[in-house]
Amino acid sequence: MARQLTRTDHMIRQFDTVLRTLMPGGAQATRPSPSTLVTDDVMSEQERQHSAGLMRVNHTEEVCVQALYQGQSLTAGYTEGHEQLNTAVNEELDHLAWCKARLHELDSHTSRLDPLFYVTSFGVGAIAGRLGNSVSLGFVNAAEERVGKRLEDHMTRLPMADRRSRAVVEKIIEEEAHHAHNALEAGGKRFSLPARLGIRAVDALVSRVAYRL
Ligand SMILES: [Fe+2]
Ligand SMILES: [Fe+2]
Repeated sequence: MARQLTRTDHMIRQFDTVLRTLMPGGAQATRPSPSTLVTDDVMSEQERQHSAGLMRVNHTEEVCVQALYQGQSLTAGYTEGHEQLNTAVNEELDHLAWCKARLHELDSHTSRLDPLFYVTSFGVGAIAGRLGNSVSLGFVNAAEERVGKRLEDHMTRLPMADRRSRAVVEKIIEEEAHHAHNALEAGGKRFSLPARLGIRAVDALVSRVAYRL
C-alpha cells in the first residue's frame, strides 16, 4: 500500500526540484525530446543565434513555471489541486530539459538571470497559493495560457530550417494547453482581462531580457 507523503517528503521533493531546475545538467527528461524525431536543415549563423535567443526565452519561462508551481505547492496545502500541480511539474521538467538540450545543440547557454527569475516566481507562486485554490489554480490557468500564446508566436519567428526547435515548441504548446485546461477543471477561477494583461506584460519583459542575457 502506498505511503502517505509527509510534509518532510514534500519539502525534500521541492528541494530536489529546485536543484534539477537550476543546476547545469540537473533537469533530466523522462521522455525523449520531440527534436529527436526530425533533422535540421542548414541554418545561417544569424538564424542559429535567433533560434538560440528564442529557445533561451522558452527555457527561462519553464524555469519560472517550475518556480511558480513549487511556490504554490508550498503554501496551497494538500488539496485535490495539489497532486495535479505535481503532475504538471513533472511534465514541465521535461519541457525544461528539452529546451536546455536544444540550447546546447545550438551551441548556446541558458539565461544568466534564471536564479533571479526562479526566486521571484517562487515568491509569486507562494503568495498565490495562500489565496486559495480558485485563485492559485486560476493563476496557473492564466500563466499556462500566456506561455502557450508566446510559444505560438515563437512558431512564427523560429527559422523554418530549425526543425528540431520547432518540434520541441510544438509539443510543449500541446501540453501547456492541457495544463491550462486542467487548472480550470480543478477549480481555478478564470482571471479577468486586466489581470491577464498584467501577466502578459511581465511575460513580455522576461522574454526581452532572457533573449539577450
Ligand atoms: Fe512547460
Ligand atoms: Fe505547463
